[in-house]
Amino acid sequence: MAPVTVDGPTNGSVKSKEEEGSAQPLFEIDDSDLSRLLEKPRPLNTERKRSFDERSFSEMSINLSPPRNNNFYRLSDNSSRGFDNLDGVYSPGRWTGTPRSGYFEPHPIVGEAWEALRRSLVNFRGQPVGTIAALDNSSEELNYDQVFVRDFVPSALAFLMNGEPEIVKNFLLKTVFLQSREKKVDNFKLGEGVMPASFKVLHDPVRNTETILADYGESAIGRVAPVDSGFWWIILLRAYTKSTGDTSLAEMPEIQRGIRLIMTLCLSEGFDTFPTLLCADGCCMIDRRMGVYGYPIEIQALFFMALRCASLLLKRDAEGNECLDRIVKRLHALSFHMRSYFWLDIKQLNDIYRYKTEEYSHTAVNKFNVIPDSLPDWVFDFMPTRGGYFIGNVSPAKMDFRWFCLGNCIAILSSLATPEQSCAIMDLIESRWQELVGEMPLKICYPAMESHEWRIVTGCDPKNTGWSYHNGGSWPVLIWLLTAACIKAGRPQIAKRAIELAESRLLMDGWPEYYDGKLGRFIGKQARKNQTWSIAGYLVAKMMLEDPSHLGMISLEEDKQMKPQMKRSASWAF
Ligand code: GLC
Repeated sequence: MAPVTVDGPTNGSVKSKEEEGSAQPLFEIDDSDLSRLLEKPRPLNTERKRSFDERSFSEMSINLSPPRNNNFYRLSDNSSRGFDNLDGVYSPGRWTGTPRSGYFEPHPIVGEAWEALRRSLVNFRGQPVGTIAALDNSSEELNYDQVFVRDFVPSALAFLMNGEPEIVKNFLLKTVFLQSREKKVDNFKLGEGVMPASFKVLHDPVRNTETILADYGESAIGRVAPVDSGFWWIILLRAYTKSTGDTSLAEMPEIQRGIRLIMTLCLSEGFDTFPTLLCADGCCMIDRRMGVYGYPIEIQALFFMALRCASLLLKRDAEGNECLDRIVKRLHALSFHMRSYFWLDIKQLNDIYRYKTEEYSHTAVNKFNVIPDSLPDWVFDFMPTRGGYFIGNVSPAKMDFRWFCLGNCIAILSSLATPEQSCAIMDLIESRWQELVGEMPLKICYPAMESHEWRIVTGCDPKNTGWSYHNGGSWPVLIWLLTAACIKAGRPQIAKRAIELAESRLLMDGWPEYYDGKLGRFIGKQARKNQTWSIAGYLVAKMMLEDPSHLGMISLEEDKQMKPQMKRSASWAF
């Protein structure tokens, strides 16, 4: 099917038309909508926001029985609570230095990074609506000339932290309109709530028109479904609302509908026996066959975070409340499932090693009938005595023990991980520094698959050979997630060390998309240069470390009502 498009003259009135060479109707949007939705951007703010923003600390908590009133987007009603949360965010014993006292010298590459980020801006009818994935003229564009939803998140956070929210607002509005279009792959109609993986602005100089061309997976290599896009969209909407205090965007009926559509899609009932979300391979940042099908940690953590953000953003009206009830129930089941079955530490590893199999009925200990022989050799060496992590995947007779960075960081930020688990993840990163950080942060997953396993699991993917790209490559973009998670867990010095490693090479190497090799010493064999999220990820990490009050826009406090009731192991003691 032809991609869904938003079309219209660059200036003047906007008319609907049929896309050339296709019978697909175009997405109509009229000027009044545009001028209403896209406000003029403010001049660039180069002054770093220095003040402690109380809002950033006045955390919003979800209520397990949503109130039946119009108490929209509940901010803390008690300003002192903000400072209680401050204690929770920074561990006073561990934090050294004063974040805003000149302790952090501005690094010379920061200015270059901002310039590069601004060069990546994509405009639609004179308004910035996103950033291009990579500005690299030396290699084939493929889809790197598009605005990817997931790639835009660090760009958006950088702009929010720099006091430039307009581009984020434009992006959120543009994508919610793209969501509401009918999308098909061949003759199959996709769910209403599906958000695009990416979009592109096409300029027609002859007709003086601009068109938005969106991809929902129907053009993507392997026709992969962007399950993460909708979750990132909700998380970003909450970040925008939290950082600007502007609730009017989230309150718009179109935006409320957008949230509900995403929720309806992922909360629909089916044959599932687990509260986790069943996905095909390539459904997230790892958008190729990599054996992440099933219940990948990246999606489960984003799902959890999006559910929590949605519960904060939904209006308490009839439709909102109906959705909220389902969210609350799912959150409960999901946090129990993840904290119990995805968590691995030395005690749990030992328990699995000794598992009995073929147990039937409710009394089964080995509920998923995992065969101990399926434990890979590497995991015994990798698991430190102190520390733990959420494993890659859990389903019948399948535990994927690989470490995935994004899912574990999001688990910390969303408070899917308990404080003890967050601490254990940090301990693991510290004790497995060589493996996970090496010479360039940060391994997207660990370890790589090689030879026979690589052949079987990736389908002989030449881009995903061992220790390259998604298969054990090192991705600089992940630094922002690590930094946010470290600050939240009270361990900012870990992030500082990683950032110093990255900034010694990133500019010199031309902001590569990823690095190869066990230690990440080599620029990735097919890595794009000027990869926007490598640039933005670095800036966000720097800004957060310098002013940790920024963390509030991307982090959720622990919900006391979701505290786990059981005691599992040494690194997870209550
Ligand atoms: C690659 C990455 C994907 C990213 C895209 C654009 O396909 O795997 O996560 O969104 O490039 O940068």
